[in-house]
Order: sequence, then structure tokens, then C-alpha cells
Amino acid sequence: MQDAQDHGGETACGGETQACGGETLGSMLAARGVGRRSLLKFAIAMASSLALPPGIAPLMAANLAKAKRRSVIWLSCQECTGCLETLLRSASPTIDQLIFDFISLDYQETLMAAAGAAAEKTLRDAIAANKGEYLLAIDGSIPTKDSGVYSLTGGRSNLAMLKDIAADAKAILAVGTCAAFGGIPKAFPNPTGAVGVEDLVHDKPIVNIPGCPPVPEVLSGVLAYFISFGRLPDLDDRKRPLAYFGATIHDQCYRRAFYDQGKFAKSFDDEGARQGWCLFELGCKGPTTHNACASLKWNNGTSFPIQSGHGCIGCSEPDFWDAGSFYSSLAGGSATGWRNAGIAAAVGVAGGAAAALVARIKARDGDSHPDPEDKP
Ligand code: SF4
Ligand code: SF4
Ligand code: F3S
Repeated sequence: MQDAQDHGGETACGGETQACGGETLGSMLAARGVGRRSLLKFAIAMASSLALPPGIAPLMAANLAKAKRRSVIWLSCQECTGCLETLLRSASPTIDQLIFDFISLDYQETLMAAAGAAAEKTLRDAIAANKGEYLLAIDGSIPTKDSGVYSLTGGRSNLAMLKDIAADAKAILAVGTCAAFGGIPKAFPNPTGAVGVEDLVHDKPIVNIPGCPPVPEVLSGVLAYFISFGRLPDLDDRKRPLAYFGATIHDQCYRRAFYDQGKFAKSFDDEGARQGWCLFELGCKGPTTHNACASLKWNNGTSFPIQSGHGCIGCSEPDFWDAGSFYSSLAGGSATGWRNAGIAAAVGVAGGAAAALVARIKARDGDSHPDPEDKP
């Protein structure tokens, strides 16, 4: 368990918390009428979502008050804008707060007013002014085939831009399953040679925030942690923040009691579905999927796919698009054998084994879906 002492001291800026020059967040917020109490409430909410001990919130609030706005350069590659759309709907804090209060979003092609040559100059200026200190956020996968010609900005390939901009970044946030693992553009037969950021950048800290789209509060939490403590939160073996991706959907699902009782909906409109029974036999991939949506949900905690009556499709896991039908059970049929063997619980603990396990079950059942690694 981390405590307040773990989070004090040296920062990414090399001195007192976020002493990178410029006005402090505390004075900026005060000028806008946001007092210490509001900042503390925000810190309590962030500490809670990051699974930090409650006692750390005052330190987090104090560090935020002392912090300077961190420059963030956001590069959109081969994407659908869904990741940015979801961030625009983040409830706590809103994107407006993130942009105007906690970070300085110096370059984001979709949101910025500048266009064309002015936008490219903004990018160059932001890099020069914050060399070695800016965060690089990326949504979308990076096409590598044919020198990356399939996605260009200002005439330059995303591939070339990523290598250039990553070189002077403090750390990289890969936002969404596309940026983290290649996502839908990487789906078989992957015509553009799409890959995730971690396949191309090997000398910078990377945080993967997968999800298609990702839960926006996860990005808010990672940014708040980095700004407060000058370093990245603890990550799992896929570079995902442990606080948000340490458990499976199944571990946190409100339908879990029905799973444990063996009560499964057999179709989307049967009595079991109406009673809110478990969706395992309708293809739910919750037992093999790590994400925070079952607890944080979307739209200010309103709902998430399973609550809306559809099974999880595993959208935050690598190669989810090629992992078989969204409507086929992980067990290849009835949940009985899977449940009796305690497989879902084991998968929840040892997430890395999930893909191999599912592959074995599919092989046993003669699943003929194409291997995503198969080249035409
Ligand atoms: Fe769109 Fe999903 Fe890729 Fe985000 S992860 S850019 S929502 S396809
Ligand atoms: Fe929830 Fe899906 Fe697990 Fe059922 S199988 S308890 S619906 S996550
Ligand atoms: Fe995605 Fe499954 Fe959550 S489909 S949104 S990880 S419930």
C-alpha cells in the first residue's frame, strides 16, 4: 500500500513538486474563484479513483496547488475520434478544466483553433518551449506499412511524427486500444500495418490507457497523479495503470451474483435477460477483460455496456476484434464446465493466461476465426 511519504519529494521536474516555472495552479484557480476546499474535494475524488489511501488527498491537493501547468502535446494518428469524444464527456474533471486548469494542451488538431501552417508552427513552438518536460498523448494506431503513408498530418506520416515528438517527451500516454495495442485498425488482415505506440517507442515511459473508447476518468486520474507527484502511477505488465486495470470486469460486475448462482440469460429477450441475469452464455468477455468501466462507468457513472444489457466485448484487450464472435461464450457454450472449474476466477487473478486459455478452448471447439497474426 502506498502512503503519503511515497508520494512526496523529488519530481519529474527535478526539484520541489512541479517546479517547472510559471504561475502555480493554486494561484490560477484562486483567481478563478476556485478555493482550497474545491481543490481538496477534487483530490479526494482522484485519490479514491486511483485507489490511494484516503489520507493522501490533502498532500495531493497541496501538490496540485504548488504545481505548474504541464504541457501536453496530443497527436491523433489512425483513429476514429471516439477517444477524444469520450474525453470531452469526462465528468470529473471536465475537459475544460483539464485544458484550462491542470494541463496546457498545446497541440491537439481537432480541438485547436489554429489550422494548417499555423497549427504546425504551434507544434514546433510547444516542443521547443517544453523540451524534455511535455507529456505526449496519442490516440489512434500508427500505420507502418509503406513508410506509414496511410495516415499523414501536414504531409508528414504519423510514424515520422511520433518518432520526432516522442524523442523530447517526458512520458507518453497511449489513449485508447488503438494507440495502446493497435486496436481495430490492426484487425485482420491489418492492411496498413497498424501497431501501437509501445511497438515503436522503446526508450520512454509509456502508460497504456486502453478501451474502445477508454474510460475518460482513467486519463484524468493518470494526469492528476502525474501532476501531483511528478511520476507515473504503478503499471501492470501491459503498462496499464494498476489502479484501473488490476481487476477484470467480471470481478467488479454487478451481475456476478447471478453468475455464481448459475443464472444465465439464454437470449437477449428471455426472462433471464429481463431479470438481469449473467450474460456469459451470450458472449460476455468480462472474465478475460481488464478495465475500470464496471466501477467508474460512463456519463458521470450512469451506465456501462453490461448494465445496458449487452455483454462485454473485451474492447480494452489486445486484438479484441479478432478474438472470435462477440456472441460466442468463452466456454464455447454453456457456462457450467467453466464455472465448475473456477476458470473465470483464475483468469481474473492471472489475466495473462486468459488469451492462451481462450485460444485452447476455441481450438478444442474448432473455432475457425482467422488468426490476427496470419498474413495474407
Ligand atoms: Fe476509435 Fe476505439 Fe481506436 Fe479510440 S480506440 S480511436 S474509439 S477505434
Ligand atoms: Fe458480468 Fe459478464 Fe461476468 Fe456475467 S460473465 S458476471 S455479465 S462480467
Ligand atoms: Fe469495453 Fe467491456 Fe467495458 S466492451 S466498455 S471493457 S464492459
